Amino acid sequence: MTEAIRRATFEPVIEVWPGPIEVGVRVAALITDLVAATPHAAIGLPTGSTPGPTYAALRAVAASRAVDFSGLTVFLLDEYVGLAAENPQSYRSTIRREVTNDLGIAADRVFGPAGDASDPEEACQRYEEQIAAAGGIALQLLGIGRNGHIGFNEPGTAFDMRTHVTELSEDTREDNARFFVCLADVPTHALTQGPATILDAGRIVLIATGAAKASAVARAFVGAVSVDCPASVLRTHPDVRVVVDTAAAAALPDSVPRVVHGAEG
Ligand code: GLP
Repeated sequence: MTEAIRRATFEPVIEVWPGPIEVGVRVAALITDLVAATPHAAIGLPTGSTPGPTYAALRAVAASRAVDFSGLTVFLLDEYVGLAAENPQSYRSTIRREVTNDLGIAADRVFGPAGDASDPEEACQRYEEQIAAAGGIALQLLGIGRNGHIGFNEPGTAFDMRTHVTELSEDTREDNARFFVCLADVPTHALTQGPATILDAGRIVLIATGAAKASAVARAFVGAVSVDCPASVLRTHPDVRVVVDTAAAAALPDSVPRVVHGAEG
């Protein structure tokens, strides 16, 4: 299905850094800036390998006690269907283990769609209500899938969808199989914030590193805004910052404005 979207588009700020470590340090700085200005903000966090260096940099800041993260509320981007929050492979467990525990954010302030709910649709609705009750998400951090997905919004997802149940593509299941014993263990469905939920965030920071993401980054920010590349919807949001490394920026044409940083920033 091809649905080219005609609505206001904005030029995201694209920052190019030498490698994943510099990207992580930069994105952590964007988050600490937000916390300094609004210590009780709600932020949205993704899982995956890409944010690893960002989370490591945040843990280092927390360990130095330079910033107090404990007032934050965290909303997960997505969750697998069938995994309870306590399951070590659930995204809720992953985010607590990799980020929020070390940042001193209490477990009851880390929200995610309930993967083990008997009524997943109702769980999606409840999640939307929890986000609204927190006053909305001030900063949503995103990775990007090789097929251009954000959260678990696969190509073809309508841009007006809010948190919903989705079937994972085989590519996405294969990409995520490394976090499981085998491919058969990867859940077939997930609950994900929808494009419309993501676009409600005050600011969106998309991170991408490595050559495998270069094509998805180029499709997201060049050419049509289309459901064929879910990340392209970000061009309809007025405050998007794209923080990538040199390898992930490699397929962007020269005509796309960007700010290139050296190792020293
Ligand atoms: C999963 C997550 C996405 C993430 C993507 C890319 O599908 N649902 O939120 O952006 O993987 O993951 P990685 O950063 O490991 O490449």
